Amino acid sequence: MARTRGRTTSGEFDRIVQGDALEVIERLSPETVHLAVTSPPYNVRLPYRGYSDDLPPEEYLGWLKEVWRALFRVLVPGGRFVLNVAPTSIKDFRPLHHDLSRDLRSLGYIMRTEIIWYKQTMGRRTAWGSWKSPSNPHIVPSWEYVLVFSKGQWKLPGDPTAVDISAREFERFSDGFWPIPPERHRHGHPAPFPEELIERVVKFYSYRGNVVLDMFGGTGTVAAVARRLGRHYLHIDSSAEYCAAARERVCAAAPPAGWPIPPPEPEVAAPAAAAHGP
Ligand SMILES: C[S@@+](CC[C@H](N)C(=O)[O-])C[C@H]1O[C@@H](n2cnc3c(N)ncnc32)[C@H](O)[C@@H]1O
Repeated sequence: MARTRGRTTSGEFDRIVQGDALEVIERLSPETVHLAVTSPPYNVRLPYRGYSDDLPPEEYLGWLKEVWRALFRVLVPGGRFVLNVAPTSIKDFRPLHHDLSRDLRSLGYIMRTEIIWYKQTMGRRTAWGSWKSPSNPHIVPSWEYVLVFSKGQWKLPGDPTAVDISAREFERFSDGFWPIPPERHRHGHPAPFPEELIERVVKFYSYRGNVVLDMFGGTGTVAAVARRLGRHYLHIDSSAEYCAAARERVCAAAPPAGWPIPPPEPEVAAPAAAAHGP
C-alpha cells in the first residue's frame, strides 16, 4: 500500500490529464494539493502546439487570475504555490512578475519570497543597444523569477520521517540565488523546466507522499520529478502531444524504495475539457 500521508482523493492524482487548466482544477476536491509548481504561457508569442500565446494583456492576466483563484480552493492550508516567470523581451518589456504577484496577493495568497533562477546564459554576449554608451544600453534577461506563495499560513504540517532534504541541500537551496543552466533536452517543447530547478522546489517545499500539481505541465518535468522523489502528481496540459511526452517521462521516473507512487493510468483526455485562454 502506498505510504501516503495527508488527504488524497483516490483517482484524482497520479494522472496525466489533457485538458484546460481551469476546468480540470475546478473539478478537484478541495484542500488536496500540497504544492503547485508551474510556469504558465507568458503571452510572448511562443510557438506552442495548439494555441496562440498572444492575448490582449488584460485578458491574459484576467484568465490567469481565474486559474489562481481555482488553485486556492484545492491547496491544503499552508500549501505552496511556486510560480516561475521570465522577464519579457527587452524591447517590449512588461513587469509580468509584478502583475502576477499583485493578483495573487489580492486573492489572499501569502507571498513568502522570490528566488532568482540565474540561467548563466550570458557567455560572452551582450545586449548591444548603445554599445559602451549610456545613450540607450540594454540589460539581457539572464535570469527568471521563482515566486513563492502559501495559502493561509506559513507552515505546512507533515510527517518528519517523510522529509528527504539533506543538510547540505537545505543550506544550498535556502540561498535564494539559484545558478542552474536551462534545460538542454527539450522533449519537443519550446520552454521546458530544467529538472534541477524542480528537484530543489519539490524537496524544499514538500514532504514525500504529498500531492504536487502542474496545471501548465508541458512535457511533464514537474510530474516526472515528483514521482521520482516519492510525491503524488497531477499533470495538466491542453496539448495531447505534450501530454504523450509527459506520460513517457513519468512512466520512466522510478519512485524511491518504500514510496510506490503509481505510473499514470492509460486514459489521457479529460471529458468535456476544452482549450481555454491562449
Ligand atoms: C511554459 S509552458 C510549460 C512547460 C513545462 N514547465 C515543462 O517543463 O515542460 C506552458 C504550457 O501551458 C500549456 N497550456 C496553454 N494553455 C493551457 C490551458 N488553457 N490549460 C492547460 N495548459 C495550457 C501549453 O501547452 C504549454 O505546454
